[in-house]
Amino acid sequence: MTTFYLDTKAVSDLVRTNGTETFISALAQFIEEDYRRWDDFTKSARLAVYYPDGLNELMPIADKDHFAFKFVNGHPKNPLKGLLTVIAFGVLSENASGYPVLISDLTLVTALRTAATSALTAKYLARKNAKTMAIIGCGAQSEFQLLAFKALLGVTEVRAFDLNRAAIDRVIRNLDGMGIKITAAASAKEAVKGVDIVTTATAAKAKVAVLTPDMIEPGMHINAIGGDAPGKTELHPDVLKMGRVVVQYEPQTRIEGDIQQMPKDFPVVELWRVFSGAEPGRRSDSEVTIFDSVGFALEDFSSLRCLYGMAGGAGKPLDIVPQLEDPRDLFSLLRDR
Ligand SMILES: NC(=O)c1ccc[n+]([C@@H]2O[C@H](COP(=O)([O-])OP(=O)(O)OC[C@H]3O[C@@H](n4cnc5c(N)ncnc54)[C@H](O)[C@@H]3O)[C@@H](O)[C@H]2O)c1
Repeated sequence: MTTFYLDTKAVSDLVRTNGTETFISALAQFIEEDYRRWDDFTKSARLAVYYPDGLNELMPIADKDHFAFKFVNGHPKNPLKGLLTVIAFGVLSENASGYPVLISDLTLVTALRTAATSALTAKYLARKNAKTMAIIGCGAQSEFQLLAFKALLGVTEVRAFDLNRAAIDRVIRNLDGMGIKITAAASAKEAVKGVDIVTTATAAKAKVAVLTPDMIEPGMHINAIGGDAPGKTELHPDVLKMGRVVVQYEPQTRIEGDIQQMPKDFPVVELWRVFSGAEPGRRSDSEVTIFDSVGFALEDFSSLRCLYGMAGGAGKPLDIVPQLEDPRDLFSLLRDR
């Protein structure tokens, strides 16, 4: 049995060869397919350990054939030290032997799968003819969010706001010539005025009201990805009362999502119900819909499955599992060779 390894370069080469939008669309198909077979999975909220400046998490999940987990951090102050806010890697193993078949960098893919999940959800919840979006928070995730909404919904007009003007300029520069018209807004309020979709992707480790009720218009779809840990929220609690709130996995989102601010019985709809048709998507042009995204292990399982299928022989064999002539003679590893 071989364990394949995809390093940062191998993953980014794979995405570049396919094209980012094509890759996001392929990933979205895996994610949608897996959410639709929700009951096939053994699920749990992730194990998180919190530090003054961030957190580390393990995100495990399994179906009858594979087990997967992702290791991920979240350290909003890291960029001040020249480090990323979010880095990740993951493992896919086959249940028949319990051996790992793929170990992969998942930092880039975390951004791609988060964006794919956001856009996929908006396909069900945003207005059918949605073409305009605001993005509040132009950090590492933002370009991927914009490309995913273009690929899956045809969103081509974006108003962007960030507390740091240089971040907006970076996004405009990075996506130049990719068919998205991005305008810098002077405030979050200006950015969201009149748009169909609002994405919040900020990263303060604090309870922040990036969106307040006065900013919400009938028919808006809100894609809130940055409120994803205890004590870290983006939406004013009253915004959550203005529309239907969709979450990935309720037990995890109650702890980590924007709904941590709400009573335990605050009504939410799990995403798999929307994807599988058990619950309707958008119900009217004026309905406000809110995706309280925190990221769920299933999306990383789908990503690893997608990478494993796409990479083919591109991965390097990794010597991480002993190959023994006699599997009971583990001691042979210590004998002179
Ligand atoms: N839901 C998910 O699945 C998921 C996945 C990955 C990351 N995230 C979260 O998404 C967020 C963004 O991640 P990132 O890697 O892009 O972080 P980042 O640190 O690279 O970027 C965050 C940006 O937000 C800006 N910002 C902070 N507060 C703001 C405010 N009040 N108004 C406007 N701009 C503000 C910062 O200036 C920065 O440019 C983080 O909170 C991260 O934890 C969620």
